Amino acid sequence: MLPVLTDTPQLHLIPSEPEDDCIDHVFLRHMLDWLESATSKGSLAELLDKMSQYLSIHFAREEEDGELLDAILAVAPRYERAVRELRADHLRMLVELRVLRDAFADSAGPIEDVQRVALQHWIAALRDHEQLEEELLQKSLGIDLGLGSPG
Ligand SMILES: [Fe+2]
Ligand SMILES: [Fe+2]
Repeated sequence: MLPVLTDTPQLHLIPSEPEDDCIDHVFLRHMLDWLESATSKGSLAELLDKMSQYLSIHFAREEEDGELLDAILAVAPRYERAVRELRADHLRMLVELRVLRDAFADSAGPIEDVQRVALQHWIAALRDHEQLEEELLQKSLGIDLGLGSPG
């Protein structure tokens, strides 16, 4: 059973399902900020658990026929390799996320440096992934999510 939250008041803001793609990408960035500012293993385990549910739906939607990844390829087949790598990222990042969640949920004491580094690495990978998607959307379909570069 996951520990009770103490320092993540934003948790109740996370919906059980992502909104549409634009809002979703904005919201994902907020969740990553919350992850970076969480200060206890319990809070991180709760946030990572929510993110696991949220991201599995987010990624599945992007991969559905005719959705984001297909839409990019339909107008810009030259991005086939980049899109294939985005698909591979999805599975890898979900697996890594669940490993992180379990590690924070199952261990006591303060957050260890190695855990913090692993979390930062995962957060950076997801930020890079989302930014690449946004860039491909902009280049292929002229859709600007208005997010700019991550701060
Ligand atoms: Fe994605
Ligand atoms: Fe995405």
